[in-house]
Amino acid sequence: GYVGSYNIVLFGGNGDLAMRKLLPALYRLYSYNNLTLEGCIIGASRTELSRTEYEDLVHRNLQIHLDTDELDPVKWEGFRQKLRYARVDANDRSSFDVLKAMTQDSAVQRNMYYFSTSPSLFGSICSNLNTSGLVDRHSRVVLEKPIGEDLASSQVINDEVAKYFEECQIYRIDHYLGKETVQNLLSVRFANALFEPLWNSNAIDHVQITVAETVGVEGRWSYYDRAGALRDMVQNHLLQLLCLVAMEPPSSMDADAVRDEKLKVLKSLRTITSDEVNQKTVRGQYRPGAVNGKPVPGYIDEGGDGADSNTETFVALRAEIDNWRWAGVPFYLRTGKRMPVRYSEIVIQFKSVPHSIFNDDGNAIAQNKLIIRLQPEESIQLVMMNKVPGLEESMKLRAVPLNLSLTEAFDNPRTPAAYERLLLDVIRDNQTLFMRRDEIEAAWRWIDQIHHGWRVTMDRPKSYTAGSWGPAAAVALIVRDGQNWHD
Ligand code: BG6
Repeated sequence: GYVGSYNIVLFGGNGDLAMRKLLPALYRLYSYNNLTLEGCIIGASRTELSRTEYEDLVHRNLQIHLDTDELDPVKWEGFRQKLRYARVDANDRSSFDVLKAMTQDSAVQRNMYYFSTSPSLFGSICSNLNTSGLVDRHSRVVLEKPIGEDLASSQVINDEVAKYFEECQIYRIDHYLGKETVQNLLSVRFANALFEPLWNSNAIDHVQITVAETVGVEGRWSYYDRAGALRDMVQNHLLQLLCLVAMEPPSSMDADAVRDEKLKVLKSLRTITSDEVNQKTVRGQYRPGAVNGKPVPGYIDEGGDGADSNTETFVALRAEIDNWRWAGVPFYLRTGKRMPVRYSEIVIQFKSVPHSIFNDDGNAIAQNKLIIRLQPEESIQLVMMNKVPGLEESMKLRAVPLNLSLTEAFDNPRTPAAYERLLLDVIRDNQTLFMRRDEIEAAWRWIDQIHHGWRVTMDRPKSYTAGSWGPAAAVALIVRDGQNWHD
């Protein structure tokens, strides 16, 4: 196991993310011996809680969020001994003294601060940590999304943090980069000679990226309603996937080598102007419907009494990358809440054969597709045309997938959760899977233009029934180009 010589301070330590993702991830790292916790884990928040109350809260949540056989009494006891709770008010300097005392008491003297709070508090937390003597060159700070709601607000937040931490100490999380298959994208592209020669506009017709969720806004209405799907999912997760598909080969896995290439992609995204926004983007908002046979309320109803909103819970768009490799290759992106099934996938669709030698009769030659499934299960498929076995005089053809299931190929490995990977990488000082400031800003610059277009056209989002694939216009967006969403 890796020796974790950090105290991990979780601001927002009793919040949703800490309970659902961060503490389960830390517990797993500890219990599977990936990480020897040398320091302590300090939950920090404004709530009045005793250490025992915090331990109980964490325990209850681990019971909910871990698999049943994972919560072992002996391991839990070891983990529990590392837990602390500090009542800290981001805006009250003196409340940081208790943190100082706890970290000084600990066996290790390096601190990792995880900000899982509203970004409006990042600045005061940093400044109070600093004044309290809790920042040195060994300190690390992890920033959760959203980092702002547009370019300007993200710059304010990044400036505030930069007053106290160097870029090499700042880890901006996009948890999609911690997913196993997302990292596998790098190995598919750069550890195989097969694909790279075809990975460009000569051979590729278009790319589709879909992240479909069945959940609604899960009690986060007040955050979500300000954000919407474009900020919540596209600005970060979908654009990061697009970058990994589209970037040039970096010279190594070195953090800046990879991030330089991603940045170039973001900067090459063609601006979607207000004139084009209705043609190239589709916004949707779900109304009541049913998901998996279960009736669910509409988005507005989740907002409570008298709520109204123009926020999109679905977005589909057609992006273009203006560079040598990708000129003329559309990237279709879509993501939505309350879709019929939960899955994320990337489809690379190749061009048609230049000429068919087969007789047409029921023999349309489908384009090859490389389908990379990120979740729920992880798989890679290559859809190819094959002869249907039989003695017919003229050959019958059919598209059949060459199937790679990663679970089967690796004999049911334990698939670590994204946050396990990322927390461990912070401790290992490896920033490859984290976003650099300039990346975030380039992404916002492109997203801001779309928001601007939406404001100018003042269109309401189109409504779609919960449990459907979003507004019909999202289909029209791709059908217009003679293609279709893969399903
Ligand atoms: C988060 C979004 O970043 O990602 C959520 O804020 C979304 O709205 C979540 O549900 C999806 O993550 P995953 O890992 O479940 O695909």
